[in-house]
Amino acid sequence: MQETLARTRSDARREARARAYAMPLREFHVGNPELFRSDTLWPYFERLRKEEPVHWCSTSPVGNYWSVTKYDDIMHVETNPEIFSSDVRLGGIMLRDVDPRYEWPSFIAMDDPGHAEQRGSVQPLFTPPELVRMAALIRERSASVLDNLPRNETFNWVERVSIELTTQMLATLFDFPWEKRRKLTRWSDVATALPKSGIYSSEEQRLAELAECGETFARLFAERARQPAKSDLISLMAHSAATRGMDRENLLGNLILLIVGGNDTTRNSMTGSVLALNENPEQYDRLRANPALIAGLVPEVIRWQTPLAHMRRTATQDTELGGKTIRKGERVVMWYVSGNRDEDVIEDGDSFIIDRRKPHNHLSFGFGIHRCVGMRVAELQLRIMWEEILKRFDRIEVVGEPKRVYSSFVKGYEALPVRIVG
Ligand code: HEM
Repeated sequence: MQETLARTRSDARREARARAYAMPLREFHVGNPELFRSDTLWPYFERLRKEEPVHWCSTSPVGNYWSVTKYDDIMHVETNPEIFSSDVRLGGIMLRDVDPRYEWPSFIAMDDPGHAEQRGSVQPLFTPPELVRMAALIRERSASVLDNLPRNETFNWVERVSIELTTQMLATLFDFPWEKRRKLTRWSDVATALPKSGIYSSEEQRLAELAECGETFARLFAERARQPAKSDLISLMAHSAATRGMDRENLLGNLILLIVGGNDTTRNSMTGSVLALNENPEQYDRLRANPALIAGLVPEVIRWQTPLAHMRRTATQDTELGGKTIRKGERVVMWYVSGNRDEDVIEDGDSFIIDRRKPHNHLSFGFGIHRCVGMRVAELQLRIMWEEILKRFDRIEVVGEPKRVYSSFVKGYEALPVRIVG
């Protein structure tokens, strides 16, 4: 089975490569979600890094944009937020401009000083003492999810493990009603899905579901504001000067940010870890022989997977990058997924190696003022999951092709068929 899967994959990669190298660069639209669903994006980015690292796309149905594909150029954009804005009113942080119906301010789509003030409200939850407190709970819950998995029987890892564990983690961060926690998953999926994804059937349905999300959180927010301050995300925002007076739209924007930020990303790293170890069985063998390698596995999975493929900025002035002139108002897309495989910075970047010399040297969490606020929780959740897996199972075997998400923003999986052996 493993050999057949490997052969199919390598044929598909060869064909994708031939297509990418035959296409003129001026026709490249690397933000096409189909490239991500079919996992054929790699040779397109490889070519851009080599031949035109800052590339103007004028063939996209969602509007023209610059692609920034090299590690150092991405760092340049990240560290100059006054030139490259995240403001939702200029279009926000995704390649597609935000539809005005969904233009809810959240601090990831703001510039400083507003961004820094609101980010400061939630930061106390991500400090080392809070992480220690969370670790015990995460371990107990991870153990229980793993103990309930079937042995020697095929099941969907995404549904049974990745979604469940991530949803539990989010419910803990929000202190959200436990029995309703799957609502968080649904709202996250609905918030990020594209019209053709099949996740929702009409914009009306989508708006109605997100309105329900807004209602639910507005109620919880009001309740927590009346209660003494605690360390969950809702209570922190309800009691902090920068966020307690937020209007309904700003509250909804920040909550969707926190749900989506924590959900798809961590979920897809968990699934990615099982897939990567199966595609690289010698690395899996080394991990099983030496669980201390989990320390390097976690950042390597996050690099290799790159759960958010890009973040976008909008130029606030004319500027130069990679020998190109970017005009005020143009979209600039930082392709983390490409920077994370930049041959000039990451040695042998296409390979999955669990004991790299500098495993944290990746762009998956971004950099600069917007660098992921939840990165330590995500790493903690992944570390604990693998510690508990290695204690229990000899091997988790991938028994079919993954079904990938139709998106060039969230890079992840809808399904991964697996079987636990031993
Ligand atoms: C592997 C898991 C994760 C990945 C790959 C990831 C990735 C990212 C990226 C790329 C950014 C934008 C960085 C930039 O623009 O420079 C970001 C920001 C953010 N992430 Fe994460 N994230 C993960 C987990 C989490 C978790 C668990 C949470 C917690 C709820 C979270 C909450 C946030 C928030 C609130 C922001 C906005 C920060 C700001 O604008 O200042 N993320 N994340």
